[in-house]
Amino acid sequence: MLDIGIDKIGFYAPHLYLDMTKLAASRNVDPDKFTIGIGQEKMAVTPVTQDSVTLAANAAWEILDDADKETIDFVIFGTETGVDSSKSAAVYVHELLGLNPYARAIEVKQACYGATAGIQMAKGHIAMNPDSKVLVLGSDIARYGLNTPGEATQGAGAVALLISAEPNIMALEDQSVYFTADIMDFWRPVYSDKAFADGKLSNEQYIAFFSEIWSQYKAKSGLGLKDFEAITFHLPYTKMGKKALKPVLGETTEEVQERLKTNYQTSTEYNRSVGNIYTGSLYLSLLSLIEQANAFPAGSRIGMYSYGSGAVGEFFTGLLQNGYKEHLHIKQHDDLFASRKEVTVPEYETIFEETLPTDGSEVAFDVQDDPATICLAGVADHKRRYVNKKK
Ligand code: COA
Repeated sequence: MLDIGIDKIGFYAPHLYLDMTKLAASRNVDPDKFTIGIGQEKMAVTPVTQDSVTLAANAAWEILDDADKETIDFVIFGTETGVDSSKSAAVYVHELLGLNPYARAIEVKQACYGATAGIQMAKGHIAMNPDSKVLVLGSDIARYGLNTPGEATQGAGAVALLISAEPNIMALEDQSVYFTADIMDFWRPVYSDKAFADGKLSNEQYIAFFSEIWSQYKAKSGLGLKDFEAITFHLPYTKMGKKALKPVLGETTEEVQERLKTNYQTSTEYNRSVGNIYTGSLYLSLLSLIEQANAFPAGSRIGMYSYGSGAVGEFFTGLLQNGYKEHLHIKQHDDLFASRKEVTVPEYETIFEETLPTDGSEVAFDVQDDPATICLAGVADHKRRYVNKKK
C-alpha cells in the first residue's frame, strides 16, 4: 500500500513580537494569568506589509526546491482570514512561488479546521495520482481587538505542508474520526476584521468534541493512549490542549501519562512564542514537537486533534518515518525566532490599528523595513500588490 503524508514542513511568523508580561502590565492583569493561566509568553505582531497570503508564501518559500515547484499540481489554502471573498489566496501564492501552471489552486474555510480538510483532500488526490505533490497551507492573523478577553490569545503565522507519496517526515494513517455540530462559539461576520468569541463556550466545546471523537476513535481503531508517542492539539493558547488531554489520561499507566505530558509540553514551545495562528496552529504544534524533542523511533505514532469553531473536529494519526529529523528545517526556525524584534505595547497598538484602506483608496508601503522575502507592497486599483524580493 502506498504511504502518503508529510514530506516537508515550512513555517513563518512575522518578525515582530510583544512580550505577554508587558501586555499584562498594561492591562492591569497578573502576568501569571497570561504566562501560566493561558500559557503564552510572546505574541506575534503583524506589520501591515504581511497578510495571510504573504505569511503562507514565506512559509512555503523556505522548503520548496525546483523539483517540488514543477511537481506540485494542487495548492490548498486553509484560512479564516483570507484577503478576498472571491479569488482564492492559493492563486496568489501559486504565482509568488512560481509553481507549475498545470495545477489547481483553492481556498478552504472552516475556522481553524481548514488546513486539516486540505490535508485529507490532498491524501485522496495523491492516492489517485501517486506522482503528484500537494501544497497545503494554513495561514492566519488572529485578531480579537485591543482590551478584549481574546487579546491575549492573538497571534499570526503560517505553516506549509508538502504532501506526497513515500513522505520523508510522516505517513498518515487511514483511520480518522470527524464530527460536526452547529455551535456559535467563535465567528467573524463579513463586515468585521476582528473575530467574535464566546470564550467559555469555545473552551467547553473544544473539550467536548475531543472527548466524543476520542471515544469514537478508540472504538473504531482498537487503539488507546499507550499506542501514542504523543498527541498534538490545535492550540488557540497552549493551556487549551492540556485541558482536553487531562480528563482522558486516567485511562492509561503512569508511565504513558508522563510520556504524553512531557511530549505535550514540547509540542507547545513554538506556539507559546507565536500565539494563535488558527489554521496552522495544530501543525505548528506538531512541528514544535518533532523539531524540539529528541528523535523518536521510526514508526512512532503521533495523534493530531484538529478543532475549528463553529464547529468541526477531527482526530487522525501519522507514523514518523525513518530519518525524519534530517528533513526538518530546525536551524531556519531557530534563526527565525532569534531574529525577531520586540515591540512595546504602544507600538503594538499602533501596528494593530494600521490596516488597509476600506474606501478603495490606494496605498504603497516601503517593504525594506520588513525582512520577509515576500511582502505586501500596497493596494492600487482595488488590487493587492505583492512582491517576492528573491524572484
Ligand atoms: N495565575 C495563574 N493562572 C491564572 C491567574 C493567575 N494570576 N489568573 C487567572 N488564571 C487562569 C484561570 O484560572 C484560567 O485557567 P483555567 O482555564 O484552567 O481555569 C485561565 O487563567 C484563564 O482565565 P479566565 O478568567 O478563564 O480568562 P478569560 O475569561 O480572560 O478568557 C479565554 C480566556 C481563552 C476564554 C479568552 O482569551 C478568549 O475568549 N480567547 C479567544 C477564544 C479561544 O481562544 N477559544 C479557545 C477554544 S477554540
